[in-house]
Amino acid sequence: MTTPISGFSKLSKGQKIDWLTEHYTKDPEASKKLILAYWNQDSDLQQLHDDFIENTITNLYMPLGIAPNFLINDELYAIPMAIEESSVVAAASKAAKFWMDRGGFTTTVLGTEKVGQVHFIFTGDFKQLESYFNSIKEKLHADSAHLTESMAKRGGGISAIELRDKTDDLTNYYQLHCTFETKDAMGANFINSCLEQFATTLKEEAFGYDAFTAEEKQIEVVMSILSNYVPNCVVKASVSCPVAKLTISSDISSELFAEKMVRAVAIAKVEPYRAVTHNKGIMNGIDAVVLATGNDFRAIEAGVHAYAARNGSYSSLTHAEIKDGVFRFWIELPLALGTVGGLTKLHPLVKLNLELLQNPSSKKLMQIIAVAGLAQNFAAVSSLVTTGIQKGHMKMHLMNMLNQLGANTTEKNQLVTHFKTNTVTHRGVSDALEQLRNPS
Ligand code: MEV
Repeated sequence: MTTPISGFSKLSKGQKIDWLTEHYTKDPEASKKLILAYWNQDSDLQQLHDDFIENTITNLYMPLGIAPNFLINDELYAIPMAIEESSVVAAASKAAKFWMDRGGFTTTVLGTEKVGQVHFIFTGDFKQLESYFNSIKEKLHADSAHLTESMAKRGGGISAIELRDKTDDLTNYYQLHCTFETKDAMGANFINSCLEQFATTLKEEAFGYDAFTAEEKQIEVVMSILSNYVPNCVVKASVSCPVAKLTISSDISSELFAEKMVRAVAIAKVEPYRAVTHNKGIMNGIDAVVLATGNDFRAIEAGVHAYAARNGSYSSLTHAEIKDGVFRFWIELPLALGTVGGLTKLHPLVKLNLELLQNPSSKKLMQIIAVAGLAQNFAAVSSLVTTGIQKGHMKMHLMNMLNQLGANTTEKNQLVTHFKTNTVTHRGVSDALEQLRNPS
């Protein structure tokens, strides 16, 4: 049991590490060494990372891999993916190659609308509130003109401000439900600044609104915040080919494989337990590119899962059909992304990753990321309906196990060859390494 600390954030980085390792680790010296081993040798680069958050002590690395050969609307992409889970990049690359040979991916952005809300309490007559709202609508725009000026130059801004009566759900609860176009920015700061300004205008103007009673003049703003639910900021990505060309392996006919794929997706549409895992596999691809491009994966996750449940039951984000001898597989999902602002200019690797993707607009990035999700799902479901995932998964996991067991390079090479023809299990790997070290 340690004692609490006050003023931790004011300590130097070294003092923080000393305090932390002394109070919370068994071997402070070894822990300090480990923490320092993950510092970047370039002190400016380290400082940059230190400044991203508070109380930074070191960096937690994530591998950055590349999945090449993504043919999207006739352009070839090599997609950077930041992810720790083995087999995700390999699966994406495999699916990319498979579909490159069958015409590639086609994508369309269906909408780019972002949302924010001012949640408030009004005690009084709704008709009066509506009249008041209509009377200040222009002022809401005028008061936020200083915030929208540069966004307007880029073709974005406030799309609509709407008054919503939510009193059926909660007594005296109303909203300003606002929509925005934020072009290449994810737009969180822009939206939140606009909303806070709307809230101020909404509250202050009420005092001088003669038709309001004294009580009605007291509008209580509860909060002003963007919504990560963006059902009109949606992208669609699809692949298709004649069923006869859907040859995944010599062990299964293309017709049977197509049917199994369609049935697996149908199950994910009606069965939430399966849908969650099905969509998790999609997010393996989505999050990896979202992270690599410096976007907010928590926002994406929250929005995507809400969208998957929009019809009242959690369901698959992908769809599949066989029609007139053609197999079609597609995804539709909301992605609120930015390619300017946030980490995009700050983090050198994020900058590089965006360059690798040919510095896409946010609309282009939506399409690339939707494709990564669709490819990932295709790879996962194809394995599931044919060989099962453990075969490929454990092969990829082999290196992690060998590292954990402290195998050297020669041992790793020998065991990778050995496990090309043997089943990978934890026990099997540890026994094989032991056998290599101490042949009986
Ligand atoms: C594992 O990370 C993802 C899968 O479970 C996805 C799926 O089941 O579709 C393989």
